[in-house]
Amino acid sequence: MNEFRLGILVSGRGTNLQAIIDSIEKEELPASISLVISNKIGAPALERCAKHGIESQFIDPKDFSNKDEFDNAVAELFYEKNVDLICLAGYMRILGKSFIKNFEGKVINIHPSLLPAFPGLHPQKQAIEAGVKFSGCTVHFVNEEVDEGPIILQSTVPVYDSDNSDDLSARILEQEHVIYPRAIILFLENRLTISGRRVLCKNK
Ligand code: GRF
Repeated sequence: MNEFRLGILVSGRGTNLQAIIDSIEKEELPASISLVISNKIGAPALERCAKHGIESQFIDPKDFSNKDEFDNAVAELFYEKNVDLICLAGYMRILGKSFIKNFEGKVINIHPSLLPAFPGLHPQKQAIEAGVKFSGCTVHFVNEEVDEGPIILQSTVPVYDSDNSDDLSARILEQEHVIYPRAIILFLENRLTISGRRVLCKNK
């Protein structure tokens, strides 16, 4: 098993998780997935784990009296697995301050817009309504604010007049699957340095 260990948080269908799994299986991404945690029961992402022999767990937020306790339980599981990086892959919960502090610089997320434009919910719909001609996706470090941590990688796609939100989402999603594994590779090759709001990337 490879040395570099990933922990992944999901809530839904898990196509970004799948892109990471595929990249590992193709031996492009030299890592292993130690644990996938879902806050949603029956998330299709969990089925993907079962199919690929990846350990996964559903943790029910209702079993905890507050958000911090839930986050602590998640953190504890990732500590036990000694994960080197935590990837949010369609994780629809905001991580609390103490979780972010405990894993500072070790949590990344993917968002389907060219941040800082269109953070938060329904970014593809926001993009169409704003009339932008290009949108895309962003992999960024997670900080205490939603969708606003330092940007690691972005990819752009055109927005066409005929697009509805589903059309644009599908076009962006293809790019998400390209840049997420790529960003993880940059991280594990130790090439990323956070400098204020910027992420500087060293050449190989
Ligand atoms: C993706 O569009 C991702 O950018 C966003 O949530 C969606 C998750 O999709 N954060 P999936 O579960 O990876 O298919």
